[in-house]
Order: sequence, then C-alpha cells, then structure tokens
Amino acid sequence: MLESSVYKCKKTPRTRARRWLCFLILFLMMGTFMLTFYNSSPKVSWPLKFWTISPAVPSAYSVAYPHRYGFKLDEPYRCWQESPFLVLVIPVAPNNREARDTIRNTWGKETTVLGQVVSRYFLLGLSKEEEGTETLKEQVLQESQRHHDILQSDFLDSYNNLTIKTMVMFEWLSSHCPNTSYAMKVDSDIFLNVHNLVDVLLKAPRQLYMTGMVVKGALVHRDHNSKWFMPVSAFPEFSYPPYALGLGYVFSLDLPKKILEASAHVKTVYIEDVYVGLCMRHLGITLTEPPRGDLFRSLRPYGTSNCYWTSVITTILQDSNQLSEVWRAYQTVNTSACALQ
Ligand SMILES: *[C@@H]1O[C@H](CO)[C@@H](O)[C@H](O)[C@H]1NC(C)=O
Ligand SMILES: *[C@@H]1O[C@H](CO)[C@@H](O)[C@H](O)[C@H]1NC(C)=O
Ligand SMILES: *[C@@H]1O[C@H](CO)[C@@H](O)[C@H](O)[C@H]1NC(C)=O
Repeated sequence: MLESSVYKCKKTPRTRARRWLCFLILFLMMGTFMLTFYNSSPKVSWPLKFWTISPAVPSAYSVAYPHRYGFKLDEPYRCWQESPFLVLVIPVAPNNREARDTIRNTWGKETTVLGQVVSRYFLLGLSKEEEGTETLKEQVLQESQRHHDILQSDFLDSYNNLTIKTMVMFEWLSSHCPNTSYAMKVDSDIFLNVHNLVDVLLKAPRQLYMTGMVVKGALVHRDHNSKWFMPVSAFPEFSYPPYALGLGYVFSLDLPKKILEASAHVKTVYIEDVYVGLCMRHLGITLTEPPRGDLFRSLRPYGTSNCYWTSVITTILQDSNQLSEVWRAYQTVNTSACALQ
C-alpha cells in the first residue's frame, strides 16, 4: 500500500501544493500504520509503549529456553535398546491419566506395524497440584513403573510452556534414540492411523524431513483476546514462516540435533509449532508436503463413513471417549472393501 502511493507522488506534476498533499497523505498513512503496530503490544499505556517496545520481553510469550531441564522420570535405555523405527511422543498434562490410558488401549498399543517397531512415550512437565499433595506424584510414579512410557521433565506443565516441552522432546530424542529413523510429536486428543503413517515413512527421505499439516503464510494474531495472541515485542513480523501444525508432525531423527542448535540463535516464542517452524527457517530446511493432502487432517468432514478412518493419518477428536469409540469403529471396518470405494 505504501509503495504504490510513493509511486503516484513521483508521477504527479511538481507543483508545491500537490507535493504537500502527497506528503500529508503519506504521513497520515504511516501514522495509522504505526499506531496499529504499537497497539498490539500488551497492557502498556501509549507513551510508555513507545519506549518499551523493543527491549521489554514479556516472559509469558517468550519462554525460558534454552535452559538445562532435567528429568524426574525417565526411560534412559529403552529407546536405545529397542531401536524402534518410529517413536511417538505424546505431550500430556500429569493429571490426564485418562488420555494416557486411552492411547495405551488404542493407537498407542500398536508396537509392530508393517514389520517396523513403533514405540510411544508420554511427555509430562511438573504439575502445580503435585506441590500440594503427594498423591499425584505417587500415582504418576506407579504408572511409570507399570508402563515404562513416561518421561517427566522439571518445568511447570502449562500451556505457555509447551515450547519448553517440545524442545525437551528434541533433547531427549537426540540423546536417547541413536538407531531410530523417525519420530512424531502427536497430541493426546488425536486419532492416529499408525499403519498409514508407517506406510508413508517407508517411502520418505531419511534425512532433513519434516511433514504434517503444513501451514504457509499464517498471520500473526495481534488481538489480545486470541488464544494465539503474540505481541510485536516477542515476534515483530506480520506472518509466520511455514510450519507444521502441532496436532501431529513427523520428522527424521537427524533434525532434533539441528533444531536444538538453531534454537540458540532463534528467540523463543510460546507457540511451540511456530517455534519449530522458525528454527527450520533458520536452518534453511523446507518442510515436506505429505504425499496426499488429505492424510494429515484436523477435522473429520461431515457425513463421511467409517472408511474415513482407514484413509487418514491424523484427525482431532473431542475427548478420550470419542477416541475409544472411533477406535472400535476403525477396528471393525473392512479395510480392503474401503480401499475399493
Ligand atoms: C512455566 O509456566 C508458568 C506459568 O505459565 C510459569 O510461572 C513458569 O515460570 C514457567 N516456566 C518454567 C520453567 O516452569
Ligand atoms: C539398528 O536397527 C536396525 C533395524 O532396526 C538393526 O538392524 C541394527 O542392528 C541396529 N543397530 C544398532 C547399532 O543397534
Ligand atoms: C472385505 O471386503 C472384501 C472386498 O469387498 C470382500 O471380498 C471380503 O469378503 C470382505 N471381508 C469381510 C471379512 O467381510
């Protein structure tokens, strides 16, 4: 918009009045532009904003990473010993036992798929409740001893700390899974078709590979009421670089180390999938589109039959009950009949 008016200014006859008018319009446009810009930074009154805009980093939007986080619960040798082809990492809150159990009984129980070893790990932070009562801590410990699939790191588990969780996941994978080809970060409210996923991965590049629902040119939310609000001080650009939606993205195991190296140079933002996209841009690695556009999905289209579950890799569900239901439907459907449709 600004460029075209400058262009017009040059073209008009060089009378003083017109020139003035042109400058005035330009000035007003820039003024409006800057006002909207500054208005997006949080809860600071206007004159102050002018001064605090660049140096102040609101900690809630730019979380503490890199930082040395340790593990309260770990499986130090399992990945190394099992050498799985694919590792599924599921971030989940400590108190969400129901989600973990449902996944263990549905897609998380598939340990050999198309002849490849697949293993799952739940990634937890610390719970606020844990400080008050010992019960949850004790329950999670018992669960870990029983299933050997819990990794618990020592930061507070909250929405704003999800970037920390993701980076801790990359740290864990790069140091614990030397003989693994791929990993996937997948949310706990997702239907995952592990068979279709492994099928895609068997034909995929082994290096510099990341895929999922790739978003391009997503605008940065500057509205304070948005769940994804991002102040200019934390991220000044208008749109995000391409990134794979956090509901489920897959990557080759050479990437965790590279992303960790990049993170030392890329300022953290609290939206975890965006941050991974920023690190990928820093590395100059392009995200790969899935072989079919309808494999990684967010929502199930209305009116589709149960054959739908045999054709996708991901779909967001409402809750654990729905996952159990969908899993039953998926188990009973005739896959070869669906393929003929
Ligand atoms: C995590 O999030 C909470 C609140 O969202 C915050 O108070 C805490 O300092 C954050 N960081 C770590 C490392 O726990
Ligand atoms: C790595 O895994 C492959 C197949 O999963 C196996 O054949 C190979 O022996 C493993 N190598 C090591 C060093 O564990
Ligand atoms: C599944 O569908 C195929 C193709 O329509 C059919 O030949 C087969 O008998 C079906 N299997 C079962 C168990 O219904």
